[in-house]
Amino acid sequence: MKAFRRLFLFGLAAILAVIAAMAIWLKSTGLSARPEPGALEISLSRKARRFAIPKKARELQNPMSASPELLIEGRRHFADHCASCHGNSGSGMTEIGARLYPRAPDMRLPETQQLTDGELYYIIQNGVRLTGMPAWGEGGLDDHQSWHLVLFIRHLPKLTPDEIKDMEQYNPRTQAEQTEEKEEEEFLNTPAQKAKAPARKGERSR
Ligand code: HEC
Repeated sequence: MKAFRRLFLFGLAAILAVIAAMAIWLKSTGLSARPEPGALEISLSRKARRFAIPKKARELQNPMSASPELLIEGRRHFADHCASCHGNSGSGMTEIGARLYPRAPDMRLPETQQLTDGELYYIIQNGVRLTGMPAWGEGGLDDHQSWHLVLFIRHLPKLTPDEIKDMEQYNPRTQAEQTEEKEEEEFLNTPAQKAKAPARKGERSR
């Protein structure tokens, strides 16, 4: 009985110490998204994410194969829905993606490419809690659009400049941006301006 009491008190002290440490940590960070996430934090959160994805879902294989048509579909869908955070190239270096906490990862790198088809699909369908990654699907297994996106994510390391150019047509634009672009286009197409045309703006979202 004595041993049990000692164990209970020890457990209670450990829990209180963890709560105190968390309170001190919260006060010291202010939960700001500004600092660069640490390597340990990134590694632990990825492990937790992997653990949280059901084994059955992790083992799913993409039922679609990468035909040119499906890659175009996935690419344009990605440009429209994902590039605001992930960038057309998948680098994550966009105004939003680079400032989220955790940051939108560079999906061309092995850390993402080594995830299974099932993990990529699960993450797209369900999102990741407490990160900026939204849930895009209903959680079923046969959402074709999400599988097309998985095909496209596999293709990211081989993306060509022409493909990125095509994606720029599908990046969301406000009405004002569309009007400005149209006016710029018309201006540049007037013969008098063609000779002294400035270089076009670069990629909208990297
Ligand atoms: C609002 C910003 C935002 C948008 C829009 C967004 N994502 Fe994400 N995404 C994130 C963040 C942040 C992470 C990192 C999550 C983490 O660390 O667990 C992420 C992670 C991922 C991952 C896991 C990659 C890895 O290595 O951790 C995949 C796959 C992914 N996103 C696909 C997509 C797809 C496909 C779309 C569009 C349908 C999309 N995302 C739209 C913010 C976004």
